[in-house]
Amino acid sequence: MVDLHGKKVVVVGVTGQVATPLAITLSETASVIGAARFSSPSHRDHLEAEGIECVTIDLENGDVGNIPRDADYILNFAVAKTNDWTRDLDSNVGGVLSLMEHCENASAFLQCSSTAVYKAMGHHVFDEDGPLGDNHGVWEFLRTYSTSKIATEAAVRWAARRFEIPTTIARLSVPYGKNGGWPAIHLEMMLNGSPIPVHVDAPSTYHPIHEDDIARMIPGLLGAASISTTTLNWGGATPVSVEEWCSYMGDLCGLGVEFAPTEHTIDSVMVDLSRLHEVVGETSVPWREGMREMVAARHPELLPSTS
Ligand SMILES: NC(=O)c1ccc[n+]([C@@H]2O[C@H](COP(=O)([O-])OP(=O)(O)OC[C@H]3O[C@@H](n4cnc5c(N)ncnc54)[C@H](OP(=O)(O)O)[C@@H]3O)[C@@H](O)[C@H]2O)c1
Repeated sequence: MVDLHGKKVVVVGVTGQVATPLAITLSETASVIGAARFSSPSHRDHLEAEGIECVTIDLENGDVGNIPRDADYILNFAVAKTNDWTRDLDSNVGGVLSLMEHCENASAFLQCSSTAVYKAMGHHVFDEDGPLGDNHGVWEFLRTYSTSKIATEAAVRWAARRFEIPTTIARLSVPYGKNGGWPAIHLEMMLNGSPIPVHVDAPSTYHPIHEDDIARMIPGLLGAASISTTTLNWGGATPVSVEEWCSYMGDLCGLGVEFAPTEHTIDSVMVDLSRLHEVVGETSVPWREGMREMVAARHPELLPSTS
């Protein structure tokens, strides 16, 4: 584990779902610089109010000059999902190369990847050497996603060697918490009566990971970094299906839930977390507790009153 006390930590993609709560938590111990385009200016006000210094960058054209060159640690949580092949590959793949070249003096670099890099194979449990493929290509609106993430991983490995930056690639499963996530989208769908798509090869199982566990694991992930690149699956210790978490939230909130089995949605992606547990440890937020807290933060009116 690295000690982040007093260190200069750059969180790239700071306005995103995952990075915003992470940056706020890290700012309790480190000096955090948040980088993004700030396409929505209100994000900057919110983060600055939390004591985070905000710098504007644009990974699509390699404009990263506002990031301090003397930063200790770089955490890249930015991802471009315009659905335009050229723009997304330039932003994600070219962008990370610009970033790593600019930050070549960093003590360690963390690249947030995704379990969406794995080939869709039903209920196969993937270790980090598992087969890669266009997992999310089944979703037309995210057609560039898996390919971008795979190509970005290769670029990160190249740059880690080229610039001799100790690096970790962490393949995130399903992040969720007060700041949202896929389960939060499902909750909104249940509220407006929309059926929840699930894969016909039931159940649709992933490893949801709470935002508090994500923040807690950063020092361990940075401590595991190596110039040859350390690649780890990154998810909650308990596999949970979409069917399970939606049914749980439905029971909690008194909402009906209808599932719509289809081949036109992503398949299960279950992962072997042995390597993560060995080098970083296990997650600690039980999934039901974490999802209850998410509902309480986003829709308190849905929970039964305790008074
Ligand atoms: N959310 C999930 O369910 C999930 C699951 C597995 C893995 N992941 C991974 O987790 C990481 C964070 O995902 P997320 O869902 O939090 O992403 P997100 O909410 O879509 O946020 C993406 C971030 O990237 C920034 N960005 C996009 N294009 C940029 C550009 N050209 N230059 C600079 N910044 C740019 C955005 O900020 P601006 O628009 O302000 O620039 C934003 O801060 C990603 O690596 C993602 O692949 C997410």
